[in-house]
Parts: sequence; structure tokens; C-alpha cells
Amino acid sequence: MSTAASSGAPVPGGHGGADVAVAAERRWAIVVGLIIAAIVAMMIVTGLHWSAMPPSRVETVDVRTLHLAGEFVESNLGSALEADGRAVVRVVAQQYSFEPPCIVVPAGMPVTFRATSTDAIHGFVVGTTNANTMLVPGFVATFTTTFPRAGEHLMPCHEYCGTGHEAMWARVQVLPRDEFVALARRSPRISCVAR
Ligand code: CUA
Repeated sequence: MSTAASSGAPVPGGHGGADVAVAAERRWAIVVGLIIAAIVAMMIVTGLHWSAMPPSRVETVDVRTLHLAGEFVESNLGSALEADGRAVVRVVAQQYSFEPPCIVVPAGMPVTFRATSTDAIHGFVVGTTNANTMLVPGFVATFTTTFPRAGEHLMPCHEYCGTGHEAMWARVQVLPRDEFVALARRSPRISCVAR
């Protein structure tokens, strides 16, 4: 003799319960889908609103030798006016400071940052501007931005990097363009660190 279930006859609480479960799953799927869509929309809107710059292309550097030779030796850090007229700032982050700790940039012209870390993951944001990046050991973070006005900003580390994280920050002085260009013509690498 076959049972009611195997013969397909209705079982009290059987198929009805399954239908309720499917309906509940579908409701949850819709709610979760809406939450994901809202979060993605928020990311797109804030990214565009703040002109967020995604992390740079993958450019690597050897953390064991970067202080000995190449672009990130100490004497090459700071701001420069390159031969092609671009302003470039080179920065190294380490626990728990930036080198140079006071950075000079021009207002009203594109400034390219090239920065890396020698130890942990660090990051920085320049005041309320969109100059904002992570610094990952072994990789060169690079982005180009324009500071509209002269002035001074704080540049804190914004990735938790250890016990000294909250004391890790630099200053950024945005100079009028002509003043920056005049300084950069006099000296190949400039910063506002008191010597
Ligand atoms: Cu460096 Cu936090």
C-alpha cells in the first residue's frame, strides 16, 4: 500500500508549508537585492560626487631596496617640476611618518602624486580634497589631482597601521602656482620641512 505523500495526494501541512517557505525566500531575495542595489548606487554616486580616483595601475617597487637606489631614495622625495612641466610629488610612508612630513604643491595646475610604503599598509587623504589613496608595500600608488586654492591642509594616515597610527600625519602647503614654479626652478626637490 502506497503512502499519501508518494501518491501525490495532499498532505496536511506539506505542500502548503513549502509554498510559504518559497514565498518567504523570495521576499528575502527581493529585500537583499534592493539593499545591494542601494549600496552599489551609493558607491557610484559618492564616487562620482567626490571624483574618487581608483587605485593606480599595478606598478611595483622593491621595498628592500627602494631607500638605496631609484625614485624613492630620500634625496629624491618631495615636490619637483619635471622637464615636461608636470608637478610631481614623491612620498614614502613608514611607521609612523611620511617623508617629507611637509609637502608643497602648486594651486591651479595638475599635481601627480607617486607614493609607496616601506612596511605596513598606510594611506592618506589631503584635507577635504579628493587626494586620497592607500599605500601598499611593494606597490606605487599614483594619482593626479588639482588643488583649486592656495592654503594649508592636514594629511593624516587613514589606514590603521599600528599603535602610532593616530600620530601619523603630514602637512600640505598649497602655494600659488607662480610661487611654486619659482621655488621649484631654484631647487630640484622642494618641501616645507624646516632644515
Ligand atoms: Cu600609517 Cu596609519
